[in-house]
Amino acid sequence: MSETPAQTVRDGYFTEETSVAVVTARHADAGNERLRTVMDSAVRHLHAFVKEVEPTNAEWMRVIEFLTATGHITSDWRQEWILLSDILGVSMLVDAIDNRKPKGATETTVLGPFHVSNAPRYENGHDICLDGKGERMLVTGRVVDTAGRPIAGATLDVWQANDEGFYDVQQQGIQPDMNLRGVFTSDETGRFWFRSVKPRYYPIPADGPVGQLLAALGRHPYRPAHIHFIVAASGFETVTTHLFTPDCPYLHTDAVFGVKEDLIADFQTVDDPARAAELGFPNPFTQVDWRFVLARQGEGAPA
Ligand code: BEZ
Ligand code: FE
Repeated sequence: MSETPAQTVRDGYFTEETSVAVVTARHADAGNERLRTVMDSAVRHLHAFVKEVEPTNAEWMRVIEFLTATGHITSDWRQEWILLSDILGVSMLVDAIDNRKPKGATETTVLGPFHVSNAPRYENGHDICLDGKGERMLVTGRVVDTAGRPIAGATLDVWQANDEGFYDVQQQGIQPDMNLRGVFTSDETGRFWFRSVKPRYYPIPADGPVGQLLAALGRHPYRPAHIHFIVAASGFETVTTHLFTPDCPYLHTDAVFGVKEDLIADFQTVDDPARAAELGFPNPFTQVDWRFVLARQGEGAPA
């Protein structure tokens, strides 16, 4: 006589019908409750996915090969797993959930692979473009709390691609080390300012399995032009974010879904020969002004 599903689960027999219950029953002795919750959910969703897609063994093998290639290309310098998470929208979703902020606080985005932790510290006004290449740009702004009060002594860790869409770390021997990156500190009125060049859009690393997947899906690998910031101040939540140029062809199709409407800045053309001369720029030049709003630690997210 055949068993009921409940008996099948008790006996540990695996069928299409009992698959989730049989597997998750084996988690009963997990030492860590959070791990058990996460793995129960992962199994539930994975089995539902397989039941919906009904892959053949050959198709599943292709998935395994893709994941194997993702692991093989990953190194200390190349994180294909994060790239996969990025292009699936998972990185931005985790970031959104982990960074729910009070109203008005600056929104966050992905960190990306091109941040370095030992960028030089500079005085406000410093020019981070070390090779003089590109369209000149002045970046100015303030760091304030959610009530609009200035935050003095906030650090702004800045990095960006050059006018051809490359970071210094991608062009060693071509760009000077630490080109287009630096750490600034807001003054007693919360202000910061530095000189740079307009960044260009660029493709995420697309010569591996993630690039092949994008191509197979008919997706391009480009990120719209942006400047990265990590803004930190004692007693406040650190914000990892970008500012986007408004006129980029990839603004609405970012390969990693990092664009938020509130992070699109006004990059103005300034026609002021005297100011340009003061800055050592040709006239006209580009200026972007931005207010970073930090939430106090424990200030909480809206209900
Ligand atoms: C970046 O903006 O630097 C980036 C973010 C995610 C993937 C690749 C690059
Ligand atoms: Fe970037």
